[in-house]
Amino acid sequence: MRGKHVLVGVTGGIAAYKVGYLIRELIKSDAEVKVMMTEAGTRFVTPLTFSALSKNPVFTDLWSSNQSSDSDISTQHIDLANWADVLVIAPASANTIAKLTYGISDNLLTVVSLATARPIILAPTMDTEMYLNAITQKNLTILKERGYFIIPPAEGELASGLSGPGRLPEIKILIETIEKVLGHSIQDLKKKRILITAGPTFEAIDPVRFMGNHSSGKMGFAIANAAAQRGADVTLIAGPVVRETPRNVKRIDVESAQEMLTAVLAQTKKTDAVIMSAAVADFTPVHPAKHKIKKQPGSETLEITLKATPDILAILGKRKRKMVLVGFALETKDALAGAKDKLRKKNLDLIVLNSFNERNRVFGSDVNTVTLIDHFGNVARFPKLSKFDVANKILDKIKKLV
Ligand code: CTP
Repeated sequence: MRGKHVLVGVTGGIAAYKVGYLIRELIKSDAEVKVMMTEAGTRFVTPLTFSALSKNPVFTDLWSSNQSSDSDISTQHIDLANWADVLVIAPASANTIAKLTYGISDNLLTVVSLATARPIILAPTMDTEMYLNAITQKNLTILKERGYFIIPPAEGELASGLSGPGRLPEIKILIETIEKVLGHSIQDLKKKRILITAGPTFEAIDPVRFMGNHSSGKMGFAIANAAAQRGADVTLIAGPVVRETPRNVKRIDVESAQEMLTAVLAQTKKTDAVIMSAAVADFTPVHPAKHKIKKQPGSETLEITLKATPDILAILGKRKRKMVLVGFALETKDALAGAKDKLRKKNLDLIVLNSFNERNRVFGSDVNTVTLIDHFGNVARFPKLSKFDVANKILDKIKKLV
């Protein structure tokens, strides 16, 4: 934490008083701390308290130029956005969470949140009903998919006298999260151009039907998010999934395997690494019908002839020069041997083997158990980890190869 710039955002909530303890711990760990407060936040704690604890002026007003000696009114928010190594919003009220979700920037805290490219941690803290309200939950899901780090609230008695989730977690948990996020956001992939594919592909049967698969895209989106946090220039080619685009990521949407190939080839010239995490369909209908296929009276079956799709990885493997090529494997038997075989046949530098069994369903899950195998034959097995942590393990390995 030494020398790290931690920007703390305080919104309106009774837990605002506990942020004093957070600031004290951060200062003890030699971090530099600046505090921004919303108007509602200042109703609970005075800026003077946080100024004394952080040893810095506290920023409360979007329109004031005299809060910091070296900023004027037009650049104050940009200066703060660039100063921060991490932004921690605690307590994060339902109101601020909703504003962040929709890009409403009507105070200094929300403007800075929109302007910064650095990681943002939110500690939602509010009454249980507000926290569990479907609107707040949906907003948090959107923000999580975009790469905001959400620390779930603690459960217990609340100021209202009710009991349930909504309390600010222990300061120790906030500090651990800040440390972890800062650890993952070291800019070690700066200037590296990384191309990632994610999600399924849909292969048209007729204008309204397709063949697809259960890939949720979570793994590929997690890699895109993690790579962007680490400073890489990330392009994400996504099959048809309903997912938010992670912050600082350029996204290209495609539908079929053929479209994915075209998009990938258009990008690869200027790429340091390609990570093919998409579950590309292996087959596609030979002749997709021009019109919706009708039921044929008296016919119980329908035959659709399929042909192989282009194997994007294999095509890249044949063409590659300096680029690092990463593939995924999902095998149900002789997994290690199968993955090694794929690595060799497709001329890959690294393959990520997903364990597929009853306990690790992979598709749609937030966690994953993987084995990484590189082209030197090194095998690294990992325990069950969040997909974000798996993403960072993959990127750690790629960093050594690029
Ligand atoms: N892949 C690809 N293009 C395809 C099919 C797969 O680029 N048309 C990539 C996937 O993105 C993944 C890797 O190949 O990174 C492994 O895919 P998988 O379907 O497991 O293996 P296949 O090569 O299709 O072999 P098999 O189906 O025989 O296991």
